[in-house]
Amino acid sequence: MEKPLIIANWKMNPTSAKEATELMMKVEGALARMRRVEVVIAPPFLFLSHLSRMRKRCKLGAQNTFWGDTGPYTGEISWRQLKKTGVSHIIVGHSERRLFLGETDEMINKKIRTLLSQNFFAVLCIGERERSGHDIPAVVGEQLKNALIGVPRGHIKNLVVAYEPVWAISTASFARPDTPDNAFRVAVYIRKVLSGLYGRGSAEHVRVIYGGSVRAKNITPFLLDGKMEGALVGHASLDPQEFMDIVRRATQAMRH
Ligand code: PGA
Repeated sequence: MEKPLIIANWKMNPTSAKEATELMMKVEGALARMRRVEVVIAPPFLFLSHLSRMRKRCKLGAQNTFWGDTGPYTGEISWRQLKKTGVSHIIVGHSERRLFLGETDEMINKKIRTLLSQNFFAVLCIGERERSGHDIPAVVGEQLKNALIGVPRGHIKNLVVAYEPVWAISTASFARPDTPDNAFRVAVYIRKVLSGLYGRGSAEHVRVIYGGSVRAKNITPFLLDGKMEGALVGHASLDPQEFMDIVRRATQAMRH
């Protein structure tokens, strides 16, 4: 793997532009001394323009998009608007959107198709709602395949698949991170599905990352034993010290 990809999903935080600025400044300050890592900050839409102007090493991500470029879609934000704001990565199909906002595989597919054709990095979130036994839950493969319907081989190099078991997300009751071993098995399975769809050579370009209660204390085993190529970090990304510890450990893990 080249550089690990660490994505901060700020969700609906913080409350003010001032706090968002402070958070970004702390991350940028610490990142200035690190080279072998790619960090993406995905704040609420509201703060994107401002953070885009102050960003240096961080890349800018969005937590969602609409699939059309312009038109009468009240309340939506289009990928074209995001592109003009400096956004390079867009999270699609997060479980909170699937669960609370009624996002379907079909909507997710439209977004993925559009984003990949427009040269964005599309961060597709997939994951089962409940912990199953040892078997890899069928829904992981289904969500992945459904999201990629009609996506041509030439477009998948900018795909990032985030395996986020819903039960491991820190806001779930009794949440706890997955084990690196299990994450590894799922990552292998995801790669197998991708290879089946696109051939091994093309599938190798897709990055597979892990999300769900990532902290400084557990990032290293996910990268080294779980063979994940990065992480999607929710709660811990709001604490700049913890977040930068995650980033630092990710860069160190890569030296192994
Ligand atoms: P968490 O969230 O790190 O707080 O578990 C991850 C996510 O929902 O993307």
